[in-house]
Amino acid sequence: MKNTLTIALSKGRILEETLPLFEKANIIPIEDIKKSRKLIFDTNHDNIKLVILRATDVPTYVEHGVADFGVAGKDVLMESSTKNLYELVDLKIAKCRLMTAGVVGVELPSRRLKVASKFVKTAKAYFAEQGIQADVIKLYGAMELAPIMGLADLIVDIVDTGNTLKANGLEARDHIADISTRLVVNKAAYKTKYQQIEPILEMLRDAANKA
Ligand code: ATP
Ligand code: PRP
Ligand code: MG
Repeated sequence: MKNTLTIALSKGRILEETLPLFEKANIIPIEDIKKSRKLIFDTNHDNIKLVILRATDVPTYVEHGVADFGVAGKDVLMESSTKNLYELVDLKIAKCRLMTAGVVGVELPSRRLKVASKFVKTAKAYFAEQGIQADVIKLYGAMELAPIMGLADLIVDIVDTGNTLKANGLEARDHIADISTRLVVNKAAYKTKYQQIEPILEMLRDAANKA
């Protein structure tokens, strides 16, 4: 009897693009994930299970080895302090950029900057690297509101089409990182279950490169 491999998927936007990619890789849940309230799913492979998690929890499940693989945004991986993971495949889905943004035409003050973001660790590292003094305020969403309300001079957020910035009178300033979704694997599982993991890795790598 083969060991079961568990793949942790990020729900939301990433899941929408993960399911067609997994289908191309011939990893297909046996029921419709989007129509179900279940969080754990069998697939067409009797040794592969999928679990559906909040995106920010994916690295945690993989770090602790309860999931062998994880599918998570590079933004989430950069922000997470999890260890024991190898980032093995760029799945090239949910592509976007991590950027700073501010109110259109408004210059930055000469004092220490106030920055609002849900990516606190990444934002702090970015401003430190630039030699810019900044205090980072943690938010959980709707970052675009912060500069308008005077909570912050800048935000650090995801930009894709730029529509959300534009709709709120903001403009993108500096590019911090290109973001896409990555396949991560638990380091110990990669060694101990290598024989089982490698073919799945290949299937997903092929599907991502064909897309
Ligand atoms: P939650 O709603 O649980 O707080 P979230 O807002 O991070 O989480 P999603 O909006 O589904 O959840 O985004 C998940 C991931 O998709 C992000 O971590 C990022 O990698 C990517 N992403 C976010 N926004 C965009 C976007 N506008 N375009 C493309 N990819 C995006
Ligand atoms: C994300 C991100 C931006 C927006 C960028 O928000 O936080 O607000 O997408 O995309 P755009 O450049 O194409 O407008 P999301 O829609 O995920 O909302 P959220 O705040 O609930 O995460
Ligand atoms: Mg979002």
